[in-house]
Amino acid sequence: MAKATTGICLVDVILFSFFLVAPRAFAAAAAVTDTLRGGRNITDGETLVSADGTFTLGFFSPGVSAKRYLGIWFTVSPDAVCWVANRDSPLNVTSGVLAISDAGILVLLDGSGGGHVAWSSNSPYAASVEARLSNSGNLVVRDASGSTTTLWQSFDHPSNTLLPGMKMGKNLWTGAEWDLTSWRSPDDPSPGAYRRVLDTSGIPDVVLWQDGVERYRSGPWNGRWFSGNPEAATYTTNLITFQVTVSPGEISYGYVSKPGAPLTRSVVLDTGVVKRLVWEATSRTWQTYFQGPRDVCDAYAKCGAFGLCDANAPSTSFCGCLRGFSPTSPAAWAMKDASGGCRRNVPLRCGNTTTTDGFALVQGVKLPDTHNASVDTGITVEECRARCVANCSCLAYAAADIRGGGGGSGCVIWTGGIVDLRYVDQGQGLFLRLAESELDEGRSRKFMLWKTVIAAPISATIIMLVLLLAIWCRRKHKISEGIPHNPATTVPSVDLQKVKAATGNFSQSHVIGQGGFGIVYKGQLPDGRMIAVKRLHQSTLTKKGKKDFTREVEVMARLRHGNLLRLLAYCSEGSERVLIYDYMSNRSLDLYIFGDSGLRLMLNWRKRLGIIHGIANGIAYLHEGSGECVIHRDLKPPNVLLDDSFRPKIADFGTAKLFTADQPEPSNLTVVVSPGYASPEYAWRGEMTLKCDVYSFGVVLLETLSGQRNGPMYSLLPHAWELWEQGRVMSLLDAMIGLPLSVSGPDHTEMEDELARCVQIGLLCVQDAPEERPAMSAVVAMLTSKSSRVDRPKRPGVHGGRSRPPLRESELLGATDIDDDLT
Ligand SMILES: *[C@@H]1O[C@H](CO)[C@@H](O)[C@H](O)[C@H]1NC(C)=O
Ligand SMILES: *[C@@H]1O[C@H](CO)[C@@H](O)[C@H](O)[C@H]1NC(C)=O
Ligand SMILES: *[C@@H]1O[C@H](CO)[C@@H](O)[C@H](O)[C@H]1NC(C)=O
Ligand SMILES: *[C@@H]1O[C@H](CO)[C@@H](O)[C@H](O)[C@H]1NC(C)=O
Ligand SMILES: *[C@@H]1O[C@H](CO)[C@@H](O)[C@H](O)[C@H]1NC(C)=O
Repeated sequence: MAKATTGICLVDVILFSFFLVAPRAFAAAAAVTDTLRGGRNITDGETLVSADGTFTLGFFSPGVSAKRYLGIWFTVSPDAVCWVANRDSPLNVTSGVLAISDAGILVLLDGSGGGHVAWSSNSPYAASVEARLSNSGNLVVRDASGSTTTLWQSFDHPSNTLLPGMKMGKNLWTGAEWDLTSWRSPDDPSPGAYRRVLDTSGIPDVVLWQDGVERYRSGPWNGRWFSGNPEAATYTTNLITFQVTVSPGEISYGYVSKPGAPLTRSVVLDTGVVKRLVWEATSRTWQTYFQGPRDVCDAYAKCGAFGLCDANAPSTSFCGCLRGFSPTSPAAWAMKDASGGCRRNVPLRCGNTTTTDGFALVQGVKLPDTHNASVDTGITVEECRARCVANCSCLAYAAADIRGGGGGSGCVIWTGGIVDLRYVDQGQGLFLRLAESELDEGRSRKFMLWKTVIAAPISATIIMLVLLLAIWCRRKHKISEGIPHNPATTVPSVDLQKVKAATGNFSQSHVIGQGGFGIVYKGQLPDGRMIAVKRLHQSTLTKKGKKDFTREVEVMARLRHGNLLRLLAYCSEGSERVLIYDYMSNRSLDLYIFGDSGLRLMLNWRKRLGIIHGIANGIAYLHEGSGECVIHRDLKPPNVLLDDSFRPKIADFGTAKLFTADQPEPSNLTVVVSPGYASPEYAWRGEMTLKCDVYSFGVVLLETLSGQRNGPMYSLLPHAWELWEQGRVMSLLDAMIGLPLSVSGPDHTEMEDELARCVQIGLLCVQDAPEERPAMSAVVAMLTSKSSRVDRPKRPGVHGGRSRPPLRESELLGATDIDDDLT
């Protein structure tokens, strides 16, 4: 352990001194400089290096291409090319030369002797110039006589990367525009299909275009972040400061690095994905801090005009209509095509001088496209409302700037249409103009409203349900038709032949998970449905487990709960024991909470809380709700699968039992639970009770909130307790969880209270003494009702890895079980 740490430190020191010393050493040798002067040139193989060593300019060939390009890249990561000069005119030869011409411009010659110019910098004439690669990665051409006037700079001609100090947008004096264009492919820097542009009409909004079609908007700038991307304000806290300029001379967006921050870049990939990448020096890799589009609702105008997209809704119903609107084409909506949008149920009533219309507040949204909206940042929101009331073309209004809190300030007025609206965490409020009758919820018109606003979606839902039911019945019919039904169980038994057919004869290419109990394969039924097939390890099944298999399957099959993974069928033939489950496309919880920042970002605070509640409900059901008393025995994040809408489904309940003896013989203690999740009494004495599951749940809860693993090397539990005890629970929270940003605002305190309570419940679950842990039903009550009492937890013990006896072989079996998921 100590040795490993020293090793890392040494590497750090070496790397550190390399970057401190190397540039100077090179400079002293005069081989590398940051400046190209008239009369000199840079041939293929030579480079310019910025004074602090961060950036390098030179010739390169991208990916598998043999063509030569002149570019600028990060010295630590030559693959991270941030600018390319001759994107459209690659050199076929390695004789390229960058020089300064007699006219004082940069020219890239192919070195053929014919003086063929592949690229030039197009700057105005100057007698004597020099080009310098600055520490920000900008290649700047200046008058060599000492004038500070910039004649030309690479930052004015962006490629696919926005570096700190660069800008996107428009110079209103010169008409110059700055935007990013993706490469055509990783091997070809020529301009590809995607362009990222600052929309300067309306409120500044960063828009991704694909061949002239709008694909993805970050949302209008609200003074603090782009309305559709509130999480940016969290992950950028110590990294960068956004700079949005709206002035008579310029409308632009850019950002600068904070002091001491790691290297960062924002890039448009050839696939149309926008990424914020941050260099992690210890692992020498680029970490993804943000990736967009994030989900289906980020697709531009997904739900059409006056539609509203909800990414947390079940996959069949992402799209809804704004209040007072219903689908323009219900038939198309039923087919999941919502692009036609919604139409108004009751016309607005707005005359020359008076109107009876009012406003409904649509909360928590990314504001609609402001391209055709009118903006006035100089008035208050109240004045904005009055302006909207007075103008019959006004369809909606919102605050333009949320700085200063309250309802914000400034005014955006939409007159053309409400397009590309979606829910986001910490979204803004949109005031939607509706006819009086649509707002009048109090009286007899309530039914009307219900009919118009809710009935349409409901009838669509009913149609969907009937369809689903029909499909389900057909499937069920198929299974019971094709597969001999075993009357003793409520779940069909399938023969091995069919299982093999579904999994390509248990082919290696179908493996999606591997663990102590078995290998999980992805399979496909003849009707196309995806299944997860778990083939239990024959060698480790106990004799009793083999014998009891059918009985245990019967128990599992009777367990039906929204938070339990459903067992569809099983197979028991010869020595084969196979379990067949629903296939979960979002895989398991561990992949997100312990994943890279992009995956972590996908589970925000609300989603994580929802997942914790779901797991608690599922376990409480196993313990008390099913009429049986089932101990899960192996609860951990890989066994928590996530469905399309990130609802948790607990897997593997009951399976562990097949691998352990109920009455442990002291000489041959068989412990299956993975280290980190095993309660002390089980790890030490093999005592398996319901309270062991409570303990594992507490660990899962704390891991889900913190994004940190409780393992043999690092015990999360005492750490969590200390932070909780000191009232610093916010430091426990995974930094990748989007926080409400008003640090002192009401949202924040409310969330902090909620978090503190949740952590306290988790700590109570991991108390050393089983009798001090609450029953699972009590945990559910504590989580759902603020009025139920939560006791004060003691500091959880030294147990948790360090002072445990050596792991037994059977425990190591559990330890390898980290990917034991059914996804
Ligand atoms: C580049 O510079 C070298 C020496 O400094 C010179 O011999 C060569 O002709 C130059 N090439 C061009 C294309 O200017
Ligand atoms: C490189 O080769 C391609 C085809 O082989 C040709 O079209 C292109 O003009 C050449 N480029 C240069 C700069 O010579
Ligand atoms: C609006 O009012 C003006 C005078 O106040 C009148 O001439 C005009 O006809 C009115 N228009 C409508 C559409 O009512
Ligand atoms: C803005 O107006 C133009 C021209 O009428 C129209 O083509 C475009 O769809 C409108 N955009 C939005 C977002 O409303
Ligand atoms: C209403 O608003 C639109 C869009 O801002 C504007 O073009 C129009 O002149 C306004 N009408 C009145 C009467 O102010």
